[in-house]
Amino acid sequence: MPISFILSFCAMKYDFAKNTSHLIILTIIIQTMKIIPLAFDSFGARSMATYIETRDIKILFDPGVALGPSRYRLPPHKKEIEREGELWEDIRDKAKISDLLIVTHYHYDHHDPNYPELYKDKTLFIKDPKNNINYSQKNRAKYFLEQIKDIPKEINTADNSSFEYKNTKIVFSKPVCHGTNNRLGYVVETLIDDGKERFIHTSDVEGPALDDQVEFILEHNPKTLILDGPMSYLLGYVYPSKCLEKSIENIIKIIDETDIGTIIPDHHFTRDLHYVERLKDVYERIEGTDVKVITAAEYAGRDVELLEARRKELYAKSS
Ligand SMILES: [Fe+2]
Ligand SMILES: [Fe+2]
Repeated sequence: MPISFILSFCAMKYDFAKNTSHLIILTIIIQTMKIIPLAFDSFGARSMATYIETRDIKILFDPGVALGPSRYRLPPHKKEIEREGELWEDIRDKAKISDLLIVTHYHYDHHDPNYPELYKDKTLFIKDPKNNINYSQKNRAKYFLEQIKDIPKEINTADNSSFEYKNTKIVFSKPVCHGTNNRLGYVVETLIDDGKERFIHTSDVEGPALDDQVEFILEHNPKTLILDGPMSYLLGYVYPSKCLEKSIENIIKIIDETDIGTIIPDHHFTRDLHYVERLKDVYERIEGTDVKVITAAEYAGRDVELLEARRKELYAKSS
């Protein structure tokens, strides 16, 4: 969704030949940050791929898309496989025009080691592949780096660092837990600030239920937040209800303590058919304010299509 400021100026132009003057209007469109969700669970496949364009730089977050291998003991439906392919095409198209690619961690819905050409001549920021990482992701990171060897223009470790490209500032968080504990390793959250818009992509925080996950957001005061919301589809099983409560408390804290305009909870959150009612307290809190809480599909102007969560239905319809 592009955010533009339109400035119009009125001026008088004198025509010497006709000895007359005309009123002319000069219009200047100042383009600020474009935030384009490319692939999300609310689009029908697992991903948080996002394209950001500022006046200074084009950035692609987490170029990967995957499908839940088993839901309701069913493998991905044909419709999900088709959607995954379509979304991957969109990611590849945006990768071609991006200057900088970010890989927030090494799960296959956030990067794909089988397409090293995606990284050709790009500046790459990656989650530290050796420190604050679990065993499985360490192995995946090693394999990924072998596959892309000598392909990107440069590879930088993202964790706890910041960079500037002309007027665009990029700030990476310290490693924060993937979810509510470090069993699945760590991810980095990212702020992009072009001086007009402040945008944060949280990566897989599954909440945010933990203090340091939410502290990065509070500290950097985003206007737009792409949030990996609570993993409520596994509530009471893998995801404790006290983590859902804490996440709701933290989302309300973000609304109360920052200048947030739009929160986009998605990814693990939109695997839950009941996602809207889970955030009932949040919707009550934003009533009468300008704050929006919408899925990535709604932000992008698409239909919400929770294909994984509706897998059982998809099979029933096609049988
Ligand atoms: Fe992940
Ligand atoms: Fe993920």
